[in-house]
Amino acid sequence: MENRRKIIMDCDPGIDDAIALCLAAAHPEAFELLAITTVTGNQSIEKITANARNLAEFYRLDVPVAKGSPVPLLRSPLPAADVHGKNGLGEVELPQAKKELVSENAVAFMRDLIMNLPEGEKVTLVPTGPLTNIALLFRVFPEVKERIEEVVLMGGSASYGNVTPTAEFNIYEDPEAAQIVYNEGVPTVMCGLDVTRKCGLTRNQIAKLAQSKGEVSRRIGDMLGFYLEGKSYKHAPMCAIHDAVTFMYLLHPELFKGERMPVTVECSGGVNRGMTICDRRWWLYDKEDCPVCVLLDADELKFQEYMIEAIYEMDERLKS
Ligand code: RIB
Ligand code: CA
Repeated sequence: MENRRKIIMDCDPGIDDAIALCLAAAHPEAFELLAITTVTGNQSIEKITANARNLAEFYRLDVPVAKGSPVPLLRSPLPAADVHGKNGLGEVELPQAKKELVSENAVAFMRDLIMNLPEGEKVTLVPTGPLTNIALLFRVFPEVKERIEEVVLMGGSASYGNVTPTAEFNIYEDPEAAQIVYNEGVPTVMCGLDVTRKCGLTRNQIAKLAQSKGEVSRRIGDMLGFYLEGKSYKHAPMCAIHDAVTFMYLLHPELFKGERMPVTVECSGGVNRGMTICDRRWWLYDKEDCPVCVLLDADELKFQEYMIEAIYEMDERLKS
């Protein structure tokens, strides 16, 4: 399977991070997962890192897990227990991982892993949490940038926010880090709320998963069930699985439409803190000069079909 894409997932599991990892794990023919690194976001770094270790083993992945930044670059962490629960996974318990962490310094670990890739090989970074680790990686170890195929991140919005009327959570949590990542010139695909709000499962699909005998289906159904009880989804017909859009884009880019444009992040700390200002004045710049492609539309039904297929695939994987 030599043409697999080499991946480092930088995440803050987190219910939708957990489901994104399930999608990646279901496709070993497409992804060579080199490492999982953790960053503060949905919960404390300790809980997030424990969740990442437990998820990796639960999905039968033989992948190193490294612990990342416990705080954003400048701001204070804002754990979202009301959305992801006290344990970060909607209070769903997983078997305790046996494998130890490979490093307590994810940024240095990523740098060594990337620089030791065979000559000519590159890695794709998939951040699904705040961009603290990625910003540090680019600024402390700029030599890695030429070894990066692209960054496919969940974050931001070209329209309206979730954690505030104008900001999406991952960017709001560490706006300075996002401003660095969006403007380092590394090819980037922004899976923002414009598409991730459309990509999820319906209440019926979630109920069916929760009643399943499948080990993965049932746990994901319970995680999403917790999401649905929360303030984010009280009146919503479906539950967005924001982070899974990153791997879905890598697997099925044909499901998405996007445009390249400059993106700057509001870092003033005022009412629009963390807003991703996507400049759609196409007549003012050459798209080739814009490293960021902002996804703007998605095929919702195909997302659901491929997502459920992956969950069932992992049910079978755990039986073997
Ligand atoms: O806004 C959605 C993002 O914030 C997702 O990554 C979710 O896990 C939370 O971190
Ligand atoms: Ca996340």
